Amino acid sequence: MKAIILCAGKGTRLYPVTLTMPKPLVPVANKALLKYAIETLTCMGATEIGLVVNSLDSPIRSQLGDGLDTVGVPLTYIEQSNPQGLAHAVKLSEPFIGNEPFIMYLGDNIFQDKMTILYEKFEHTSAGAAIALTEVPDPHRFGIAELEGDKIKRLIEKPKDPPSNLAIAGVYVFQPAIFDAIDHIKPSWRNELEITDAIQYLLDQGQTVIPYIVDGWWIDAGNADSIVLANQLVLEDLPYTPPFNGDARIQGKSDVSHRVILGENVQIIDSMIRGPVTIGDGTIIRDSYIGPYTSIGENVFIEGSEIEHSIVMRNCEIKCVDRRIDSSLIADNTRVITTPNRPNTHRLVLAENSVVQF
Ligand code: DAU
Repeated sequence: MKAIILCAGKGTRLYPVTLTMPKPLVPVANKALLKYAIETLTCMGATEIGLVVNSLDSPIRSQLGDGLDTVGVPLTYIEQSNPQGLAHAVKLSEPFIGNEPFIMYLGDNIFQDKMTILYEKFEHTSAGAAIALTEVPDPHRFGIAELEGDKIKRLIEKPKDPPSNLAIAGVYVFQPAIFDAIDHIKPSWRNELEITDAIQYLLDQGQTVIPYIVDGWWIDAGNADSIVLANQLVLEDLPYTPPFNGDARIQGKSDVSHRVILGENVQIIDSMIRGPVTIGDGTIIRDSYIGPYTSIGENVFIEGSEIEHSIVMRNCEIKCVDRRIDSSLIADNTRVITTPNRPNTHRLVLAENSVVQF
């Protein structure tokens, strides 16, 4: 069975990180968001995946290639150079899908539930679509489903006056009839071809749309806070790890708790690591404290600092920062350092949309 993952958004809510890195490549627990999507889809039964990307030169393509060696499933790239909505992305995928049922997954979504039974449940019915739903506290931000008994009666995209708090989460199963439904819809108030409107068209034609209530947490990882939260939830599920007695990576007066993953050639020197924490290959941590729910990428150098509940990506340097860094998202090649030199000033080199909170 084929699936598509939509990765062609602009990611503006995650600037400046997404100025150089597409959102689906942002790491959560040291693994790209997109890899969680691919894992969930293979659990659901996908054997071929199409990735809708802004450009065939996307870094997603240079990192994952044809998929066989990188994620164990063949990948095809579908270009959407001028994103005009989720339904537009689905329509562009028609030549890849052909005339078969398929799954669509939003590339910035991450779920605890592997949804193995969603496709099975759909396969044995005559329904036109199945959609994943979950309760949310802020329904006006999502597509919302109105149910009658256990059936979907109406779907509405980002309603001002939501009829329920059941949001459409980022996984959908479709019959190929969705392509014809897309031909019948018009752009919405935000000038996008909404997949919610195409599914409503199926309902208006008398087709059934099956609701699937997601088990466990779901994050639409659109902004920095939600990425940091996704990192916390994924690390929460790290299994127990035995004590690191006699491990050459741990040196001096260090204290490393359980639920800590250390990469190759990591050096922990005179530092305390309190899990759940993951630390990438070649990283050096000296005279520092790394607290729970922190992911540190490859080749990072941290000295004389405290960090918790944060993501630090690759090749960063964090030195002598006097207050604990908390709930932060620090992208590749960033330096956060304090120097003892006078005058006692802050010197900043920041990209557009950066956030600095002292
Ligand atoms: O996250 C769940 C919500 O996702 C649903 O509740 C809504 O019904 C659904 O419309 C969608 O709303 P968003 O406004 O959050 O969608 P967003 O624009 O963030 O796009 C979701 C993903 O799809 C994102 O990874 C970018 C990608 N995308 C988006 C557009 C508009 C594309 O690949 N092509 C596009 O044209």
